[in-house]
Amino acid sequence: MPIEWNGDSREFHLRNDRISYVGRVLENRWLGHLYFGPALAGGRTYAHLVPGDFYGFSNRLGEPIPLECPISGSGDYRPPALVVEGADGSTILDLGYRSHRLIPGKPSLPGLPSTYVEFGGEAESLEIVLADSIVGLEVRLLYTIYRDRPVVVRSVALANTGQGPLIVRCAMSASLDLPDAAWQLITLSGEWARERHVERRDLRPGRQSVSSLRGISGPQHNPFVALARASTTEDAGEAVGAALVYSGNFLAEAEVEPFGTARLRMGINPEGFAWLLEPGATFHAPEAVLAWSSEGLDGLSEAYHSLFRERLARGSWRDRPRPILLNSWEATYFDFDEARLAAIAESARDLGMEMFVLDDGWFGHRDDDTTSLGDWQVDRRKLPGGLEALARSVESMGLRFGLWIEPEMVSRRSNLFGEHPDWAVGVPARPRTESRNQYVLDMARPEVVDYLFETLSAVLGSAPISYVKWDMNRAVTEAHSATLPAWRQGEFFQRYVLGLYSLYERLTKAFPGILFESCASGGGRFDPGMLAYAPQAWTSDDTDAVERLAIQWGTSLAYPPSSMAAHVSAVPNHQVGRITPLATRAAVAFFGVLGYELDPTKLSESERAEVADQVAFYKRWRELLQFGRFHRLCGPFDGDGNETAWMTVASDRRAAIVGHYEVLSRPNPGPRRIRLRGLDPGTLYRVSVWPDAADMAGAGPARQAIGGDELMNAGLVIGSARRDAPAGDFRARLFVLEAD
Ligand code: GLA
Repeated sequence: MPIEWNGDSREFHLRNDRISYVGRVLENRWLGHLYFGPALAGGRTYAHLVPGDFYGFSNRLGEPIPLECPISGSGDYRPPALVVEGADGSTILDLGYRSHRLIPGKPSLPGLPSTYVEFGGEAESLEIVLADSIVGLEVRLLYTIYRDRPVVVRSVALANTGQGPLIVRCAMSASLDLPDAAWQLITLSGEWARERHVERRDLRPGRQSVSSLRGISGPQHNPFVALARASTTEDAGEAVGAALVYSGNFLAEAEVEPFGTARLRMGINPEGFAWLLEPGATFHAPEAVLAWSSEGLDGLSEAYHSLFRERLARGSWRDRPRPILLNSWEATYFDFDEARLAAIAESARDLGMEMFVLDDGWFGHRDDDTTSLGDWQVDRRKLPGGLEALARSVESMGLRFGLWIEPEMVSRRSNLFGEHPDWAVGVPARPRTESRNQYVLDMARPEVVDYLFETLSAVLGSAPISYVKWDMNRAVTEAHSATLPAWRQGEFFQRYVLGLYSLYERLTKAFPGILFESCASGGGRFDPGMLAYAPQAWTSDDTDAVERLAIQWGTSLAYPPSSMAAHVSAVPNHQVGRITPLATRAAVAFFGVLGYELDPTKLSESERAEVADQVAFYKRWRELLQFGRFHRLCGPFDGDGNETAWMTVASDRRAAIVGHYEVLSRPNPGPRRIRLRGLDPGTLYRVSVWPDAADMAGAGPARQAIGGDELMNAGLVIGSARRDAPAGDFRARLFVLEAD
């Protein structure tokens, strides 16, 4: 079994062929941490790794003893994992080992998204119970190790076993003490339209963190961080990852303390958080996924990609090829009628696309963004036959039909707000801050969630709807729920997220055939929690090909291509005004779930031919592009960022596609080779170039199959643009490799 418990040394060891995670009940019964890293032999003790004779205090353990569930206030001054306030107002805890049990597989977390198992023996879990008898608190630490994945999934549940109420002020899902601090912290940071750019900085003494207080995970920082050695590259070196399966306020923090060790903690952001735990009640924190790679960031990404794709995403669309869609947003914005939509859909169909998605503007009187959110009744001025007539006409063209909704919102100008002003989040007697002319509905109120379930069920049941884009276009302000008493307002954000998850759970269960895509002003809630309900997310409102290189590159650190919706849009690009070639826009979007977000009736004949070719190319290679093993080769955060290359390899390694992109055309460039990854060294691959087969210029002996060994060790000859025919800026080429 992958989990050993050694009663003599009081040690637990989670291990598989790739990693080990070891901890031990210390002499004072606290739970110590011994090791996380490449696999160590089973059946041995590692207790000596942490000398028990360094205390710092005469009668207690102090820094830098590594711990599994550190608390503060009695000698450990590093950031705590747990802060629970007892009846006397003190937060001192003495969490001693009480018991443990091994659990086959992996339990789910009540009300929260979580990774899972599908067959017996795939994973094993260990629950360790720590307890403080003075305050009456039981801490249940849950660890899961999969047989074949370099990940350990951790979560914590807190049970009040005493007589009086407790207040949970901090409940980190994971705390990881590392024996040295020679790491760099990698975060995915940005803003609207430039989400998840890679930031990498040395860990320095003191605390460094990323977080959200917006009610959503947010585009500013992502609930995924990695620690990597300065020497760690894409394909070599050590890296540790931490990802939180959660969609609200989070904290990921690393502290380097004076003895040169590092503590990484991740969980619900404790700022403003306070959860009243009544006697007999249990609080469940979300789960964190820790991963270890000795094969660089590439290995770390693969650990997350495969876990998120196969054991976090759920539902009928998890493993199915995703349809190529046409989204109406940038084609029409709010200005459409049935005839215009039908013309767009028909044109998309003629180009080979498979689904038409009606974005914002179909309900209430929504001619702009000042009105109607919450009034989920079709606008008969625009769609006299309702959604059903439109969806049926789209279906009769041979396309699926998809719809945009923004459930969590209410416009100030809406019937819903008129009827239920108290359903909007806000502090009574204070003005609410407006953003995009809208307020956030109080998802902490069960009647709001019920109302949304009923209303949206009616919408989704009213027409043949195959896909839903679930948007969320503003962050929370004036966080306060009318249904919570004053002393429970610290629970608001968590209850909001639980309400959101319950709505998602109910709707995805009620409509199991619908493909859900999450969205928050683009990629503002692109997090592991959402993936449990919606297997794909709108990656960014920014569809410019150059910007997307950085966004998709950064996103791919944690998230697989099958989760990244990527669209080809019109030029000049609506976000940055840049004009890039149509082929380049497609060559970038191909490495995600492809869609188009433009008016195809406005394309020229030659553009239409090009798009039809793109769609055909994507259909031919869709499974590889959506579900292949993705590798980053060189990219926007390396050097001057001018060159990006990435690739995806089929599971049987019989095919691969390399994408190569140059932002600016450089004069008189030299020849260039890029070393590929993940191929079979013994296989010969035929290489063809897309979009222009003649573009093999300098790319080795034409039509001769090339060995996987050569492609990985000597590299793929990218060639350079001919001097007499410079390629121009924003050039992209795909190299398709097929086993000979
Ligand atoms: C958000 C989304 C866009 C679009 C608009 C509609 O910004 O990210 O894709 O759906 O809302 O209002």
